[in-house]
Parts: sequence; structure tokens; C-alpha cells
Amino acid sequence: MDHLKKTKKAFNEYVDQYRKYGDKILLKINHSVRVSELCRDISEDLGLSADDIELSVICGLFHDIGRFEQWDLFWTYNDMRSVDHGDLGAEVISKGCLFTVFSGKERDTVVDVIRYYNKYLVPEMISDRNRLYVNITRDADKIDILSMYVEGKYNNLTENNILSETVYQKLLARKPVRKEDISRKDDEIAIRLAFIFDLNFRRSFEIMKKNDYIGRMIDIQKEKISNRVLIDQLEDLKKQLNKYIEEKTAIL
Ligand SMILES: [Fe+2]
Repeated sequence: MDHLKKTKKAFNEYVDQYRKYGDKILLKINHSVRVSELCRDISEDLGLSADDIELSVICGLFHDIGRFEQWDLFWTYNDMRSVDHGDLGAEVISKGCLFTVFSGKERDTVVDVIRYYNKYLVPEMISDRNRLYVNITRDADKIDILSMYVEGKYNNLTENNILSETVYQKLLARKPVRKEDISRKDDEIAIRLAFIFDLNFRRSFEIMKKNDYIGRMIDIQKEKISNRVLIDQLEDLKKQLNKYIEEKTAIL
């Protein structure tokens, strides 16, 4: 069996023990598989070697490995109410039998990706090589979260409140929006929209553009609301954010 097949088998065997929890686990299994394919797409576009593309696929597949134990232990995917799922995942990989499936030179990269892909900032001290895989996985993860948002797998705006001034200005200034910036549930959409300011690669912007994730996300919100000021605010954001995507696709 080739190496990629072996790692996929190990992943499937590991997650099988959590399938008893149903849809919540299936959501993460399917997300992991899609993220691994997006990692392939981005790394192919970067012109990486066949071995490096394979490693990037493996990183994508395993990036959320901590989610399964997180659900088993805490019955939530909310890191603030449980543990950091990246740290937990790095521990799961390093301690368990899963570790043996990776080749010696892969281990360090896979562990760094799992531990750091979800952090606010990727620490300076990691190697350039590992940083590349962390960034590919970060992009792939964000793109897939946006695709799930568009498909209605997350809660959307239900209120008619306009976005708070702080959050709106951050989006216009092309700055990431963090959980700490959000003071009410209505503003949560801003975190997802601002994902684009954290993307690293040309191909990621191209995928965003091709699927019109920003436009579709905003249109879904608009259908549910009647507040004219909020509708105008969202329309303005759609224009500004798509302009940013256009610019990045041209520059990178
Ligand atoms: Fe993820």
C-alpha cells in the first residue's frame, strides 16, 4: 500500500471510534477530507513536488485530529469552553499509535501544522518549511469553513441590527476580526467575512472568486433581513471585499 493510502487508512480507523456520536463527528470527518483536497489544490498551484503535495494532503487530513477527542471529552467544539483543539490534536498525534504511520521527516511538520494552524499568529520560531504547510492548511481550512457557511451548515444572521461600528470599520480597513472584537452574536458573520484578510496564496483567492463565497454569503444574509441600513452595509461590504480578492489575485 502506498504511503498516502496508509495514512488515510490510519485516519479512518482512528475516527471510526468516534462515529457513534453521529452528525457532529461526521461534519468534522467530511471537513477534514475536503480540507485535504483543498491543500492538494493549493500546493499543486504552488508547484510543489509530488512528495511535498502528498505531505500537504496529509496535513490537511489530520489538521483537526484534536476535534474528535475534544467532542468525546467536552461535547463541544468551542475552544473557549474546553481546550485549544490544535494543542489537543498535537498531543493526540504525538502520544498515540497514529504517530507511527508518519515517516520520520513528516512528523515534525504534521505536529506543527496541527498545533499552529488555528493560532492567532503562527510563531516565529517554526521552520520556513513547516510554516509553508501551516499556511496552506490555514487557507484550506478557512475556504472550507466559508463553503459550509454558504451551504447553511452554520447559523446565519437572524437579527436586523447593523454591524457594530468597530467590526464594520475593521472590515473596511481590511483587518482580521477576532472573537475578542465581537460583543454580540450578530457580529459573528464579520469573523467569517474577514477570513479573506488571512489568506496567503493566489490560488486561495482564485477559489474564493470562482465560488463567489463572499457574494453568496452576503446574499444569504440579505434574504433574511429587512433593515435597509443593514442591507446597504452588507452590499457595500460585498463590493469592498470582492475588490480586495480581485487585487490579491492580480498581485500574488
Ligand atoms: Fe478545520
